[in-house]
Amino acid sequence: MNLTPTIEHEALDMNDVSDEFRHAVVLGLSAPIKTLECKYFYDEVGSELFNQICGTPEYYLTRTENQILTSCVAKISEIVGERAEIIELGSGASLKTRLLLEALNRPRVYVPVDISAEYLLRATDALQHDFPMLDISPIIADFSKNLHIARREGEGNRLLFFPGSTIGNFKPEEAVNLLSRTLNDLMADYFLIGFDLVKERKTLESAYNDASGITAAFNLNLLKRINSELNGTFDISKFRHEARYNQAKRRVEMHIVSLKAQRARIGELELDFASGESIHTENCYKYSCNSFEAMATEAGWRMERVWTDEKNLFAVALLA
Ligand SMILES: C[S@@+](CC[C@H](N)C(=O)[O-])C[C@H]1O[C@@H](n2cnc3c(N)ncnc32)[C@H](O)[C@@H]1O
Repeated sequence: MNLTPTIEHEALDMNDVSDEFRHAVVLGLSAPIKTLECKYFYDEVGSELFNQICGTPEYYLTRTENQILTSCVAKISEIVGERAEIIELGSGASLKTRLLLEALNRPRVYVPVDISAEYLLRATDALQHDFPMLDISPIIADFSKNLHIARREGEGNRLLFFPGSTIGNFKPEEAVNLLSRTLNDLMADYFLIGFDLVKERKTLESAYNDASGITAAFNLNLLKRINSELNGTFDISKFRHEARYNQAKRRVEMHIVSLKAQRARIGELELDFASGESIHTENCYKYSCNSFEAMATEAGWRMERVWTDEKNLFAVALLA
């Protein structure tokens, strides 16, 4: 595995990460409507909890995307061609990647990019073990910022891979911006991207409210992270997880709701919560194939193919 690259990138400096985390948390929790960005869910514990969410019966997204990928990877391999270079944004456990790597014709390079450092390195170690001929160059970075990865001489097409409906965590205008930055900065030939489809409220809300409470633990882990990394005093038992579908905005929102009027501190900063007041922690936007295509087109991509499952729960698009 190649950790020091032939590839140029803006890797994260861990001191900057904790300064940035502190700054973002103080700003987000001091605002009249309290918010935290969802990228902060992913410390090592958060990444592991997300992996467990993917296995819950309610979370149809992962199983459906796996099914779709299994049925379309041969076609993708035909289109992308041999010796491809794959860059994956928000690679997590790199499990879906395996389906792609197994189907592609002699893939050469794999560059997983993730903000969750230890988890990324563990996942890539396991992948390197199973794909010894593949040149793997993990990058610990925040893909919502600038990311330039120089192309290598002599490789085939560059394929960006962005599964998991992570694009849905961005507001539509931010998503267009991200899609257009990936086109201009990363100069990919193809972009394979998974997005979740609009459906009825019940299926959506239960996907983010699993009966075993893993999504709740994932959401509340953010307060634990603030306690341990920023010297916070949140009493986790006095907050609850909530996920609700906002139909007008076509997004599932995750919130951490205060169970009573209370005060918490982060270092010197004192934060008051009214009973029922929430911290908005995540948006998961849902699209139709047409609305997603419009967004991709606005960003400069062309929708080459789109695949969905029988029940029209989820979609995987290949942009060119
Ligand atoms: C919804 S999970 C998807 C994981 C995996 N791709 C899948 O399909 O199951 C989002 C992933 O993106 C990573 N992530 C979230 N925000 C990020 C950011 N701004 N920069 C880099 N990685 C990020 C998380 O650490 C996590 O691994």
